[in-house]
Amino acid sequence: MVNNDLARAGKMILNSKYVVALAGAGISVESGIRNFRGPGGLWTEYGEPPMNGYQRFLADPKISWERRVKREGFSKELHEGLINAKPNPAHYALVELEKLGILKHLITQNVDNLHQIAGSKEITEIHGNFSKLRCIQCNSRYEIGAISLESLPPYCPNCGGLIKGDTVMFGEPIPEDILTFCRSEIRKCDCILLVGTSAFIYPAAGFPWEVRGRDGTLIEVNLYETEITTFCNISLRGKAGEILPELVEYIKNEG
Ligand code: APR
Repeated sequence: MVNNDLARAGKMILNSKYVVALAGAGISVESGIRNFRGPGGLWTEYGEPPMNGYQRFLADPKISWERRVKREGFSKELHEGLINAKPNPAHYALVELEKLGILKHLITQNVDNLHQIAGSKEITEIHGNFSKLRCIQCNSRYEIGAISLESLPPYCPNCGGLIKGDTVMFGEPIPEDILTFCRSEIRKCDCILLVGTSAFIYPAAGFPWEVRGRDGTLIEVNLYETEITTFCNISLRGKAGEILPELVEYIKNEG
């Protein structure tokens, strides 16, 4: 028996022309990767890291790289979670929604690569990907392993610029190519599906506001209330790995 809220959300999605999903760390919790804020969050346990991580990296890239190679504290824990994780039913449900032609684009704040492993094709990783490196000058991306770390910091074989992890640090601007693309998707979007995000970190947190400003539809899937809950047309409370497959099933039956 499908509950009323789920059916309402399904209808809203079916009545929309351009659905974009914004995913956050909550979608990967059921894959064993801890989220950041709220109960069980990494920042809840270790405290929020300094907001000027990028400026510190630029001030001394060698030290920053040496720390990265050593991996200590939450960085170690986060990395171990990332390399062992597998997609869960929530990731696969988004893939199915894309295959149905309903989900036009997925913007993920996650760096864990799980959407791609599950099979998402129309995806932008606004905070980068943990398994890649990026030149801060020309934005070229490299797989880890493609760049020698014998001498630190590494420099770009393409332009000689400084290389860092692709994951966006606090204080670091979102790479321009990525942000421009996200903005163009959000301009087309009339329904945004917010999955497992506290909608707290900008610029991603601004996307639902932009859609709402045009009278678009906001649908949230989250275990708890967030700052955006009261502004959503509907908020589905529970685990993404349970709700999203049910929602997609409903859409398949009704669509
Ligand atoms: N199903 C649905 N929602 C869940 C689940 C679950 N199984 N588990 C947790 N959540 C929700 C939490 O209630 C919370 O609202 O997911 C959300 C995760 O929020 P955050 O930890 O703040 O993650 P996110 O929104 O992705 O954070 C944005 O902040 O520090 C950074 O760079 C990091 O990309 C990240 C950004």
